[in-house]
Amino acid sequence: CSASDAEKTVVIGLAADSGCGKSTFMRRLTSVFGGAAEPPKGGNPDSNTLISDTTTVICLDDYHSLDRTGRKEKGVTALDPRANDFDLMYEQVKAIKEGVAVDKPIYNHVSGLLDPPEVIKPPKILVIEGLHPMYDERVRDLLDFSIYLDISNEVKFAWKIQRDMAERGHSLESIKASIEARKPDFDAYIDPQKQYADAVIEVLPTQLIPDDNEGKVLRVRLIMKEGVKNFNPVYLFDEGSTISWIPCGRKLTCSYPGIKFTYGPDTYFGNEVSVLEMDGQFDRLDELIYVESHLSNLSSKFYGEVTQQMLKHADFPGSNNGTGFFQTIVGLKIRDLYEQIVASRAGAPVTAAKA
Ligand code: ADP
Ligand code: G6P
Repeated sequence: CSASDAEKTVVIGLAADSGCGKSTFMRRLTSVFGGAAEPPKGGNPDSNTLISDTTTVICLDDYHSLDRTGRKEKGVTALDPRANDFDLMYEQVKAIKEGVAVDKPIYNHVSGLLDPPEVIKPPKILVIEGLHPMYDERVRDLLDFSIYLDISNEVKFAWKIQRDMAERGHSLESIKASIEARKPDFDAYIDPQKQYADAVIEVLPTQLIPDDNEGKVLRVRLIMKEGVKNFNPVYLFDEGSTISWIPCGRKLTCSYPGIKFTYGPDTYFGNEVSVLEMDGQFDRLDELIYVESHLSNLSSKFYGEVTQQMLKHADFPGSNNGTGFFQTIVGLKIRDLYEQIVASRAGAPVTAAKA
């Protein structure tokens, strides 16, 4: 039997290249929903799924139709649509949305093989994260909200070096080569999905340090589509105006090169958007409340919730800059979207959260 309208799963898509912060973002998101998501108990230890009381996160690598050997033989990368089964992805996401459990395959990242499937029961919120959540039009149409993490090449390189050299012992040359090898397929199949996203988090090198090439200080832009149902973009000072703000001073401690916020309307792939930008990094997270109090439409449940979340996960990558700050804000917006969808289905009056 399938679920009544009031119980239907809300489906969120999160797209990004691998190594671009999807799992960190998921940890921030599930924390906003009130509990860390864990791997399924008693199942395949190599499962890519994470489950909390409210949320199930599935990794779209599980819909690889070609395993590692198959990809090698055919000469296609994991980013190539030919290595992925979009028919099955569509059927299963649709079934879950309709309240029906599915037997989802598991792509084993250790062996590079497809393992026997695991059962996914319909959760309140299903997040599909991976390389192609917005690639197939049928899957895209099932999404209630979509996010694209757009990490610029310079920053991607800096992060990958950090991880692959430090943790996996790869050489600088091999990292460069692997990024270069992925680039044509990334440009062809992954990057174009950002035009469909309701929110894009763009991560770029700072403009506060002339000719910076270290990639440590970041300029992060939160691009929010206008007119999306149940989603009201965040704004700084006054909605729809254009603002440039340096919060450093008596109420916010900043060291070189400081912090600069900008906000204003723009267009993105022909769509009207609002863009909130933060360049620079925070010195003291407890002072973040000062910045938070100048933002509106945050969908927080109490004064200072964004700051509280940031302090709680101060050890996650990106907590001192716009990546962590905007991921946390998007988490609050998704919670609000979910609550509005549920309320509207139940026929209750929808009151937009204030903050
Ligand atoms: P994914 O799930 O997309 O593969 P992760 O969340 O595991 O990505 O992040 C991969 C690596 O990228 C992390 O180990 C970290 O080094 C780096 N990273 C991710 N997000 C950030 C960030 N906001 N700031 C700095 N480094 C980050
Ligand atoms: C991407 C995919 C993974 C894949 C990896 C390496 O990051 O998300 O599923 O394992 O590429 O692919 P390879 O073909 O080298 O195993």
